[in-house]
Amino acid sequence: MSTTAPLPLLVLGTGRDLATERGVECPGELPAPSDPGLVERARAARATLGDAVFVLGHHYQRDEVIEFADVTGDSFKLAKDAAARPDAATIVFCGVHFMAESADILTSDAQTVVLPDLAAGCSMADMAAISQVEDCWDDLVDAGVAEEVVPVTYMNSAASIKAFTGRHAGTVCTSSNARTALSWAMDKAGGGRDGAGKVLFLPDQHLGRNTWVRELGGSLTDCVVWDPHKERGGLTVEQLQAARMILWRGHCSVHGRFSVAAVEAARREIPGVRVIVHPECQHEVVELADEVGSTEKIIRTIAAAPAGTSWVVGTELNLVRRLARQFPEQRIAFLEKNVCYCSTMNRIDLPHLVWALESLVQGRVVNPVRVDPEVAAQARAALDQMLALPGETSRD
Ligand code: 13P
Ligand code: SF4
Repeated sequence: MSTTAPLPLLVLGTGRDLATERGVECPGELPAPSDPGLVERARAARATLGDAVFVLGHHYQRDEVIEFADVTGDSFKLAKDAAARPDAATIVFCGVHFMAESADILTSDAQTVVLPDLAAGCSMADMAAISQVEDCWDDLVDAGVAEEVVPVTYMNSAASIKAFTGRHAGTVCTSSNARTALSWAMDKAGGGRDGAGKVLFLPDQHLGRNTWVRELGGSLTDCVVWDPHKERGGLTVEQLQAARMILWRGHCSVHGRFSVAAVEAARREIPGVRVIVHPECQHEVVELADEVGSTEKIIRTIAAAPAGTSWVVGTELNLVRRLARQFPEQRIAFLEKNVCYCSTMNRIDLPHLVWALESLVQGRVVNPVRVDPEVAAQARAALDQMLALPGETSRD
């Protein structure tokens, strides 16, 4: 029988369990979700704060939050938007923890980034811990391949993983610029598609695989999956020597659930349907789709389509529902009935936003996200490398 004490069940926003979560405590009074005055309170606080505060909203945020965002975007655009507002003393980031960390790294020391609920993490980012990644690198050194490897980390990773990438002269990428980033890294590692270089792609195996095979014309047989829970990633030295893409065994708990069966059902049931999915989806799903792209690309593609087009969309539900409302002349459906909202994106709700904004009005900064300066400097090198990638503005 287990001797471990049972975990306390915490009501969200009322306590914290530091052993398992970043913290769900919100000091002070969190307004009740049923408060009918929340919209008015958010408006009033926003107006009082003026230009000193800049509110960023990721496309996966709830409508009630997006309504108060000064700009919306995917993770790439928001990172650039944050960096472009040196005059704003406080950036309120309506998104998830790794995005707020990146904004903190890209903004000046005088600016503060606030995440209205610190428990808004990302299950994919949490699948790569820095100690595991360091162990992986040591194993690559022991296998005699580390010199040929350039790390590429998806934006959806902790600052410590971005710092690791910076220390090893790699780059960050997002779903908007993964092709350019991967092609840059392969060239740096020792040659393009047919060369000898290798990339360690963190932490999303699907984005890495999809980009290599679909965008760069690589082969599935070039890819191996590094399982951090197994000795030497569960791979032999020979497998590592032969591989071009060493994919970290991580995935998105939302996008990873879209299935081939759902695509096939949509094609059966909706005549002429176009299937558009995010590259975090499994390779088999992406292969069956008509279009693949970041949230920005999904929005652009649907906005540009002729009226009467039928779509099924494989990305986060808040965005799909918003698209369906914004483009009523098109028929827009969610790809998979059994997939839910991203639970961590959804933790930023109107009560947390009102609480964060009203606290700022009272001169109190709540839930600041501050990256350790040494980690930030190394992570910045990898983020700057991403921002300097050739042609990164023509992203999709
Ligand atoms: P984007 O890079 O498209 O913003 O996606 C971020 C994300 O969390 C996808 O799950
Ligand atoms: Fe992370 Fe997936 Fe949520 Fe994006 S949708 S924040 S990758 S868990």
